[in-house]
Amino acid sequence: MESVWSKTAEFPEFQPLEGDLKTGVLVIGGGITGILCAWMLRRRGVDCALIEAGRLCGGTTGCTTAKITSQHGLIYHRLVKEFGVDAARLYWQVQEAAVGRYRELCRDVPCDFEEKDNFVYTPDHRAELEKELEALERIGAPARFVREPPLPFPTLGAVCFPRQGQFHPLKFLAAIVRELPVYEHTRALEWEPGLVRTQRGTVRAERIIAATHFPFITNHGGYFLKLYQHRSYVLALEHGPDMGGMYVDASETGMSFRNYDGLLLLGGGGHRTGKKGGGWRELEDAARKYYPHVKIVYRWAAQDCMSLDGAPYVGQYGKSTPGLYTASGFNKWGMTGAMTAAELLTDLAIGRENLYTGIFDPSRTILRPQLAANMLESALNLLTPTVPRCPHMGCALKYNAQEHTWDCPCHGSRFAENGKVLDGPANGDKQM
Ligand code: FES
Repeated sequence: MESVWSKTAEFPEFQPLEGDLKTGVLVIGGGITGILCAWMLRRRGVDCALIEAGRLCGGTTGCTTAKITSQHGLIYHRLVKEFGVDAARLYWQVQEAAVGRYRELCRDVPCDFEEKDNFVYTPDHRAELEKELEALERIGAPARFVREPPLPFPTLGAVCFPRQGQFHPLKFLAAIVRELPVYEHTRALEWEPGLVRTQRGTVRAERIIAATHFPFITNHGGYFLKLYQHRSYVLALEHGPDMGGMYVDASETGMSFRNYDGLLLLGGGGHRTGKKGGGWRELEDAARKYYPHVKIVYRWAAQDCMSLDGAPYVGQYGKSTPGLYTASGFNKWGMTGAMTAAELLTDLAIGRENLYTGIFDPSRTILRPQLAANMLESALNLLTPTVPRCPHMGCALKYNAQEHTWDCPCHGSRFAENGKVLDGPANGDKQM
């Protein structure tokens, strides 16, 4: 199912890589993070190339709701608790700088950028809002409490971040990608220091950035422990109200709202990939209940990588992978996450210091409660004796009846009914 973004943007096409290539920095992955990395490298005069296994923005980037905000749910009280006030402040500052960078870039790129306030609401956890507001005051973020956000159901209030943004992500990326050295339909199959093998040749590069949504090299970095994937759904509705801002439930399974070009984009129905959840059916029920006169014109779903502690993993891929970097685990906040990651990875690739390296370091502690949940899920599905099995690490695949796909509850790989891989970390099709 295609998103409103992919239906309304024209993306340039690029030829596959045929034969061998030598470059300064190789970027693997043509979503927003990879494209921004390559674009920033080029602007700094660095020789680079980008390879993409399929079409550019064919994954999560094309399915986002494209909210540009430093308000990543109710994350700041959690960051203060786990990392301290100074680190939480740095996190907010770098995300707010990313909002500002989009605002500036979008002046010259026709991509329907609009400045909007962002709201995180809760129907049932007022105490969480209070903790968040207290943390935001400590770090100096100008947030405010809104008692009655204009939503079609009662809430206990919302935290508002002023002057955030929303845009058309593919119009933006289509404009900046045109001049970049890109090879589509070129899958990275194997990595060794300074070299990546693809289907039709090898690429030698001093530095390599894996911007592949889920880091694709399994035997370094332990990402199969540090990440799980979450699926969420979107309906684009005609004749819905203008919400006047962007809204998201503090809970992972709640609903989100924003407008685009006269449409109301209603998000939600989320669940861990491979598990049961509300999906489009839940959103259809909500649309019928709250907006009985709307018409559904688009529907799509997105796949997000979730980290153990709420902060993304951006930096050196693993302890023994010099020259190899990654960015993942944006926890559904991939617009500012990608901009922040691209700035940081570009600095690392050219050997420049970056103030934010420590906060996002992929090698930071993994001793968080979510680790136990991830391990339990993997153990259960490894021991489940059903077929088909996932080619990544052998877990039992589960059928997703709404999307007609086979999904893996362990780390979130997904396959079409004919076995074609739709989402990694599995790095190739499956024989069904
Ligand atoms: Fe890892 Fe399926 S995605 S076993």
